[in-house]
Amino acid sequence: MGYITEDKRKVTTHRLREMKERGEKISMLTAYDYTMAQIVDGAGIDVILVGDSASNVMAGNVTTLPITLDQMIYHAKSVVRGVERALVVVDMPFGTYQISEMEAVSNAVKIMKVSHADALKLEGGEEILPAIKHLIQVGIPVMGHLGLTPQSINKFGTYAVRAKEDAEAEKLIHDAHLLEEAGCFSIVLEKIPAKLAARVAKELSIPIIGIGAGGAVDGQVLVCADMLGMNKGFTPRFLRRYADLHTIITDAVGHYVEDVKNCNFPNETEQY
Ligand code: KIV
Repeated sequence: MGYITEDKRKVTTHRLREMKERGEKISMLTAYDYTMAQIVDGAGIDVILVGDSASNVMAGNVTTLPITLDQMIYHAKSVVRGVERALVVVDMPFGTYQISEMEAVSNAVKIMKVSHADALKLEGGEEILPAIKHLIQVGIPVMGHLGLTPQSINKFGTYAVRAKEDAEAEKLIHDAHLLEEAGCFSIVLEKIPAKLAARVAKELSIPIIGIGAGGAVDGQVLVCADMLGMNKGFTPRFLRRYADLHTIITDAVGHYVEDVKNCNFPNETEQY
C-alpha cells in the first residue's frame, strides 16, 4: 500500500527543515493538474512541484523554455485546488526572473497572488542571487535549483551529468552556500555526481532534494509522468518506474474502442 502518513498537517518550509534535522527523507513529485494533484497529495507526498517540465509533459515542447507565466499560473491554480497537505512549489518559467529584480518580484507576486501556491523555484546560482534576495525580502519562500538546469539547455548543449569536473563542482558548492545564505528554504540538485550532492547536503542546513543526485541527500524528486511510466521513450539511469501506465492506458483505450465497434458498450444497465 505504500507510505501513508498519519500526520495530516499542512507541510510548510519549516516542517521540511525539521524533517532534515531528524533525518526523515522528503518526498517530492511534479503535478500539473487538479486530478493528479489530488491523487499524489492523497498518497502522502510531502512536496508537489508545478514544474516547468509541464512544457514537455503537458504541451509536448522539446524544452522547458517556451512555457509562459500565464500557462504556469494556470497549472499552479489547478494543482492548488487539488491539494490539502503537500507544500506546493511553482517553477518560475524561463525569462520571468532573469531580466531585472523588479520584473522578477512582479512576476513572482503575480504567481503567488493568483495561484495561492506556497513557494517558488528558480534555476541558477550567483547569477540570479539579486532576484532571489528580492523575492525572499518580499516574503516569498524560494527553492533553488542547481546542477542540470533545463532552462539553460541551449547554453549546456546537452542533458548529460553536470559538475563532473572540479571547477564546475566548486562553483556548485559555492552557489549552494550563497543560496542558503540568501535565505532559500531548500535546493534541488539535478543530475550531478552522488558524492558531490552528498557533500552539499552535509555542508548545508537546508534540505537538499535530488533528482539523479544519489541517495545521500535529504529528499528525492521525480517527474510524475516519468515514474508512472506514461512515456516509454525516456529512460535515464536515475529514473525508477513505479507503474507502466502507458501499457495500462493503451490496453484500456483499446478495449473501449473494441467494445464501441462491437456494440458492447453501452449495455442495458449503462443507459437511461
Ligand atoms: O520542472 C521540473 O519538473 C523540475 C524537476 C525536474 C526538478 O524542475
